[in-house]
Amino acid sequence: MQNKLTITSVFTTYESVNDLTTIDKTLCQSAKDILKNAYAPYSNFFVGAAILLEDGTIVTGTNQENAAYPSGLCAERVAIFYASTIYPTKKVVTVAVATKSNRPNPSSKPVSPCGACRQALSEYEVKFNSPIKILMMGENGEVYESQSVANLLPLMFSSNSF
Ligand code: THU
Repeated sequence: MQNKLTITSVFTTYESVNDLTTIDKTLCQSAKDILKNAYAPYSNFFVGAAILLEDGTIVTGTNQENAAYPSGLCAERVAIFYASTIYPTKKVVTVAVATKSNRPNPSSKPVSPCGACRQALSEYEVKFNSPIKILMMGENGEVYESQSVANLLPLMFSSNSF
């Protein structure tokens, strides 16, 4: 017998960061502010991530590239590993991602975390047993919001899988 399993992901979209709550706006601004520290001489694609912890602490990260390309790391993983290193017991509430490229026409399309970052973030959603909200931005314009990492990573593999 054959059946279909349908998994639906729903995202909230905002016309601009100005439509977000005050704390989410602050977090998005933190992600934008840290962009300048990205080390992206190879792609010239600058990514900033800002993570809100349960007590209001904000931890940031940027993409860090390397001449041996696969040795670099995305902003989201730099930020989440840093957060877990410094504040291992503080629940992760929200992750905001901002980008900037040197293209003449900045893209307003929100950038979403790559597959490896989704997997890395999912670990902390499972660890704290609490959804992590993801806010995705382009260089300007719309913001996409995912209520959880699981919403971004259907059928995700986790410690609950074995
Ligand atoms: N990058 C991130 O930092 N986060 C993502 O979610 C996607 C990609 C970085 C990796 C690399 O330094 C550059 O963007 C181009 O892929």
